[in-house]
Parts: sequence; C-alpha cells; structure tokens
Amino acid sequence: MSEDNDEVSDLRFKRVLLKISGEALMGTSEYGIHMPTCLKFAEEIAAARELGAEICLVIGGGNIFRGLAGAANGMERSQADSMGMMATIMNALAMQSALETIGVQTRVQSGIRMDEICEPFIRRRAIRHMEKGRVVIFAAGTGNPYFTTDTGAALRAAEMHCDAMMKGTQVDGVYSADPKSNPDAVRYDTLTYQDVLARDLRVMDASAVSLMRDTNIPIVVFSLHNKGALQDVLTGKGPSTIISGK
Ligand code: GTP
Repeated sequence: MSEDNDEVSDLRFKRVLLKISGEALMGTSEYGIHMPTCLKFAEEIAAARELGAEICLVIGGGNIFRGLAGAANGMERSQADSMGMMATIMNALAMQSALETIGVQTRVQSGIRMDEICEPFIRRRAIRHMEKGRVVIFAAGTGNPYFTTDTGAALRAAEMHCDAMMKGTQVDGVYSADPKSNPDAVRYDTLTYQDVLARDLRVMDASAVSLMRDTNIPIVVFSLHNKGALQDVLTGKGPSTIISGK
C-alpha cells in the first residue's frame, strides 16, 4: 500500500464540509476581512488536504452584513438576506484568494448566479471538483432568504455526501456552560442530535441540526485556532465534540 493510502486510512472522515463563521475572518479587526487570518485558515485546509481529505467550505457573512440585523433595522427581510448572501460571496472570494496564494486549487460555486465572478452551484460538478482534489467553496448559503449559512452548510454537506460537517468555532467543542465565564464547565466528547435539539444547545440552527440528523451526518465542533487543529480532528486526535445519532 502506498504512503498516501496509509494516510487516507488514518482519516476518520474523508470528505468533509468545513463551516467557518464570517466573524472568524475578521481576525483581530472589528469588521471585514483580515487576510492574514484567511491565510492561517487556508494553511489549515492545505494541511488537511495533504492527509487525503476532500474538503468543501461554507463561510458565513456576519463580518460584513447580517440579514437579521438588517431586518431588525427596518429593512425588508428578504432584501436584507440577499445582502447577507452577497457578503458570503465576498468571503468566499477572499478565501479562494488565500487558498490560491498557497497553491491550493479551488472553485467557488454560488447559490445565486454571479456568472462573471464564480461558478453557479452544480452539485455533480462540485463533486467532480472535490474528487480532483479541489477545495470547493460554496457561497450564498442556500440561495434563498430566511435561511442561515448553517442551514446552507448542512444542505451542501448532505448534497455532497460528506462524511462529516466540521464546525470550526472559538472553543474546542460544546460545553455544559460557557467555558469563558464558568471554570467548572466541561466539554462533551459526544452528544446526540436529540440532546442538541431538546436542550437547545445552540451549536447550530435547529434546522441545520435536523437536516444532519435526517441524513445521519455527524457534526464535529472544534476550535480552528490551534495550529494543526483540523488535521488533528480529522485523524481523531484533537479535542472536539461529535454530535451524531448515537
Ligand atoms: P474540469 O473540467 O473538471 O477540469 O473543471 P474546470 O473547473 O477546470 O473546468 P472549466 O473549464 O469549466 O473551468 C475553468 C475555469 O473557469 C475554472 O476556474 C472555473 O472556476 C471557471 N468557471 C467555470 N464556469 C464558470 C462560471 O460560470 N463563471 C465563472 N466566473 N467562472 C467559471
């Protein structure tokens, strides 16, 4: 068996969708896109790809515009959500740029047609891109208002037949209480979809968790802040909380 195949067999999940919040791209800034932070995430993704993982990405848009906040300020909700979806396209293009800077092949596919700047979402084509080792970045959520990028991520993970949805957050899993304010908070190693929904643990939107439950795709909550974190969780070494049916 080749060295490559050995590495692939070490992977706990081969094809994954990585969900990153838009705010994570702000890095130390208060707004917008911090390219050194995008590059840091790009390096994490490149390292995970070298292990043989097939990776697709969904990035939120909250660092630029949040549909809900726009609606709260009096904007019509669908209109505000359209602006939020456009924010996710900006983030997708920034991450594409960061990944390509370090030599990772990428394709951006958008749920809203923007043919001059990226491909439209075509499921079978996206799968082909991933099989060829390209990182596919899905932009514009589901392409519809009233949905979040969490739900968009769950939908794409299901459509791509991903083995897991990796949710990169500020902390390394789901805790019994806020670990920043409560030193007694403990991290759960595993939870069921039902635990998350019934106890309203707010890991992701309920609709995203339900879709992952219906399609039986585990959600892996981990921190993207430590170097090598994505590689570690993909090989079952790093701290995380795995949400599944069992
Ligand atoms: P293979 O045919 O599998 O090699 O995939 P490919 O993506 O390289 O093929 P294609 O020749 O279709 O695409 C070449 C480049 O054009 C890639 O960078 C695509 O992302 C880009 N591209 C393809 N379709 C569109 C589109 O509708 N809009 C934009 N803006 N770019 C596109």
